[in-house]
Amino acid sequence: MKIIHTISEIRHYVKEQRSLGNTIGFVPTMGSLHEGHLSLARHAKTENQTVVMSIFVNPLQFGPSEDFDRYPRNLEADAQLADSAGVDVIFAPSVNEMYPQQQLTYVDVELVTENLCGTSRPGHFRGVATVVTKLFNIVLPDKAYFGQKDAQQVRVIQQLAQDLNMPVEIIPCPIVREPDGLAMSSRNVYLSPEERKQALSVYRSIQEAQKLFDAGHRSASFIRERVQSIIAVEPLAEIDYIKIVDLQNFSDLNDQINRDALLAVAVRFGATRLIDNTILVP
Ligand code: PAJ
Repeated sequence: MKIIHTISEIRHYVKEQRSLGNTIGFVPTMGSLHEGHLSLARHAKTENQTVVMSIFVNPLQFGPSEDFDRYPRNLEADAQLADSAGVDVIFAPSVNEMYPQQQLTYVDVELVTENLCGTSRPGHFRGVATVVTKLFNIVLPDKAYFGQKDAQQVRVIQQLAQDLNMPVEIIPCPIVREPDGLAMSSRNVYLSPEERKQALSVYRSIQEAQKLFDAGHRSASFIRERVQSIIAVEPLAEIDYIKIVDLQNFSDLNDQINRDALLAVAVRFGATRLIDNTILVP
């Protein structure tokens, strides 16, 4: 497996692969890889001859008081894991390689960024949409793989690709969880043992919501309250949001859940903000 740090080299590599008739699957990440990331790579490898993974902690998508500086970085360990998952090349540019001069062009996706994490993290999706556009233009993939763990991000990228006529197919992939149910995240390493224990309430609450929904409950407020009551008993939990939104436009569903919906939860445990979700299909 190769590790490439510059845009010109990765462009050259991809061009070469294409000339061999290989299709390009692309897995954008910020590194600190876990099974969630690796599942995307493995999926990509089943559908493409060549898999490119980017590892880039994108400053543009972090707010001023967020964890950009302390975000875990470990390229050596990541390279081993990526290799084992079938990645052919890692593209790991420096911040200067991606943003050599002041960036004056941004990609703003409207509507689907206006709720959930878009509200809690102003500018976050602008940073994501901008860097993903840059990465797509650099790597020129046939297909790009994103995890449902970040359900709103998937929706934003799908909209972006469609609106800007990008010749790439966006492939959503299922959430990968720890054996006890906690959704895998690079940020889980921040959790203290006690926070880690209490964080399980997030998964339990989502399971309960899915169970209620499957049993025929359709009241959004009823389901939200049950979710809230399960998380709120944990003394270290600080709920950011618990919402049920329309899966297409991400606007709040406050009454009956009568179309495809997303239950999305964001909770802080100490300094660590965790998100999780499940899709509710009537
Ligand atoms: P990052 O948080 O590193 O995630 C990279 C990809 O892995 C995303 O598509 C994310 O949804 C997916 N992923 C993370 N945890 C997962 C899990 N438990 N199960 C399934 N998939 C999971 O998301 C980003 O990076 C960045 O915003 C990025 C798209 C790279 C742009 O900077």
